Amino acid sequence: MRIAVTGSIATDHLMTFPGRFGDQLIAEQLDRVSLSFLVDDLQIRRGGCAANIAFGMGCLGLRPVLVGAVGADFADYRSWLERHGVDCDSVHVSEIHHTARFLCTTDEDHNQIASFYTGAMAEARLIELGPIVDRLGGLDLVLVSPNDPDAMLRHTDEARGRGIPFAADLSQQLARMPGEDIRRLVDGAAYLFGNDYEKGLIEQKTGWSDEEILDRVGVRVTTLGPKGAVIDRKGEPSLHVSPAPELGKADPTGVGDAFRSGFLAGVAWGLSLERCGQIGNLTATHVLERVGGQEYELGRASFLERFAAAYGAEAAAEVEPLVKCHYA
Ligand SMILES: Nc1ncnc2c1ncn2[C@@H]1O[C@H](COP(=O)(O)OP(=O)(O)OP(=O)(O)O)[C@@H](O)[C@H]1O
Ligand SMILES: [Mg+2]
Repeated sequence: MRIAVTGSIATDHLMTFPGRFGDQLIAEQLDRVSLSFLVDDLQIRRGGCAANIAFGMGCLGLRPVLVGAVGADFADYRSWLERHGVDCDSVHVSEIHHTARFLCTTDEDHNQIASFYTGAMAEARLIELGPIVDRLGGLDLVLVSPNDPDAMLRHTDEARGRGIPFAADLSQQLARMPGEDIRRLVDGAAYLFGNDYEKGLIEQKTGWSDEEILDRVGVRVTTLGPKGAVIDRKGEPSLHVSPAPELGKADPTGVGDAFRSGFLAGVAWGLSLERCGQIGNLTATHVLERVGGQEYELGRASFLERFAAAYGAEAAAEVEPLVKCHYA
């Protein structure tokens, strides 16, 4: 099964300031702010929704096709993703812009001053799925995850027009998109992903009820943070999938993306929705245990052992012949 993962590709530059921003701001001089914070720490992490999702799928042994726009500075990131099984041949490289970048400084009190540079991501709207379909001899699923809004609409319209099943993952882009666009991204999706907050926001912004959404999508997958996930289909009882116990909690950034990696791996392997949700939960747990969205290692033996512990030996036996992690 060939899955195209479209969406953002970015790097995060995270700094910590050992003081308080508030102490540096002078109330009478806010019209002339010129501040430089001497920071203690800089962490550069690979991110972007599509890159995170494709990375997780690659770690599980699939070969997802990453579709997004980057800058000439992508070389190192590209080799990292390729080493983890991601097909980067359809990534668009901008001639003028840098790869999207999130710059964030956090102070002692966890206040943050951040900027997001869209950069090359704006060129994702220039990407056409046609040549990708031709290169691969077909696509079985197109995931539309957060990206330049015009690109999200274009990929969805193109998948729909070509009769390729698509999955809608609006996540953080929901906030800024008008209801009309959200309806266009959701209507007819084979899978609709969101957390429980986003589920409500989709209903509010589209004006469609819970039931009406289930009329329009194949499967709706709602993640519930520490409570796992719930999977709904029209006319079927809700299927609750319990979370996979975590060994420790480091940082939740990217858990939603990793859930999608695992879930879609289950879809690619032709497993039941329950197994898909379980694989999603366990993959998400791996991200929760590390700082960063792509800092985890999926070892095959430990993955299967943890899967069996969380969901039983029978479930693990179904997954065992399919998981082909990069690490033993
Ligand atoms: N504390 C936890 N223990 C176990 N699993 C967790 C925990 N928190 C999150 N998860 C897993 O991660 C999945 C996604 O979490 P969540 O619903 O918080 O996504 P999200 O809000 O989209 O996150 P983000 O956008 O920050 O990545 C859950 O379905 C679950 O499998
Ligand atoms: Mg999310």
